[in-house]
Amino acid sequence: MGWFPCSGSSSQASKKKRKKKEIMNQIQSTSDNMKNATKDGGSNQIAAKTFTFSELAAATGNFRRDCLIGEGGFGRVYKGRLGSSNQVVAIKQLDRSGLQGNHEFLVEVLMLSLLHHTNLVNLIGYCADGDQRLLVYQYMPLGSLEDHLHDPVPGKKLLDWNTRMKIAAGAAKGLEYLHDKASPPVIYRDLKCSNILLGEDYHPKLSDFGLAKLGPVGDNTHVSTRVMGTYGYCAPEYAMTGQLTLKSDVYSFGVVLLEIISGKKAIENSKTGGEQNLVAWARPLFKDKRKFSQIADPMLQGQYPARGLFQALSIAAMCVQDQPNMRPAIADVVTALNYLASQKYDPEAQPIQDSNRAPPTPPRTKRDAGFERERTKRLL
Ligand SMILES: Nc1ncnc2c1ncn2[C@@H]1O[C@H](COP(=O)(O)OP(=O)(O)OP(=O)(O)O)[C@@H](O)[C@H]1O
Ligand SMILES: [Mg+2]
Repeated sequence: MGWFPCSGSSSQASKKKRKKKEIMNQIQSTSDNMKNATKDGGSNQIAAKTFTFSELAAATGNFRRDCLIGEGGFGRVYKGRLGSSNQVVAIKQLDRSGLQGNHEFLVEVLMLSLLHHTNLVNLIGYCADGDQRLLVYQYMPLGSLEDHLHDPVPGKKLLDWNTRMKIAAGAAKGLEYLHDKASPPVIYRDLKCSNILLGEDYHPKLSDFGLAKLGPVGDNTHVSTRVMGTYGYCAPEYAMTGQLTLKSDVYSFGVVLLEIISGKKAIENSKTGGEQNLVAWARPLFKDKRKFSQIADPMLQGQYPARGLFQALSIAAMCVQDQPNMRPAIADVVTALNYLASQKYDPEAQPIQDSNRAPPTPPRTKRDAGFERERTKRLL
């Protein structure tokens, strides 16, 4: 059931108005600071529109259950249609719990107002009515990469090799924009399959910038922060020290690439309740080229190029190295993945690989919404 902010006394109303103004001022002043700090900051105006709560309630039929398209650690996501423009949108309603969510809301609005790239999701607007915090995004018709890899709907097309490489290359390009085109660089901090959304023709876009940080400037190599992120994707040195670098994102990208290739989750909760870490599982297999086919997703049914698999796994293996300075820069990953994505695999013309030699791993489990998924959270 949906709800509206309660109408109350005029003093309550003016208090709400003051709070709203405060948020808008906060957004504007932080934006000005960021614009001063970023060379590549985009336009001087915040492109995102402001919406009232009732506009967004109307867009979603009062947050009707059948408009619900997803739920994450910070709130629920609804599909809606804006009355003003008839545009179909995705509306994220943040849980009304505490300051941390509010901070992430501000960062999300600011980052997506200043950063624009074909591989980043587009923020249409936001609502900061009273204690309501909602974000309005372009609707991504094919949902998240996680849905396709780990929660396939029966009858829906499975991701083939060419589509997987296209998604990997596009996601890497989004990250390259954050690291190398934005100035100062932006560390994304929350790269994972559920944050890679898919548009028409599987065009990938990174979403969820609430944890993003402006990267180190000058001689500094890292920014120190408390450890936030998602188990399984978080680089080991960041988890241990809280020192965040661009290479922390490269590690997370390596985990995503491994998921794309293997179809396995970053953390697989086995039936017995133990954890299985994808990187720990794949590492011994990286050492022996002959074992690479064991990593390939059995759902591909051997329909992938042997050389392409070898190259994609080599990239993933480099990205997830323990030593951050041994990991490649994202620009090099983009170059390699662009090449791989351009080498189209044709199962009619090229041999089908033997995929019957996979070692025993926990069975892929179909998750029920919200269970056993790793969420973005404070990790330390
Ligand atoms: N713009 C969008 N268009 C279409 N679907 C979306 C959009 N944004 C989010 N979703 C759907 O809603 C789901 C939940 O997204 P959300 O970002 O709230 O959580 P999450 O990324 O799954 O988890 P976490 O809170 O840990 O980041 C996504 O997995 C996706 O399926
Ligand atoms: Mg998300």
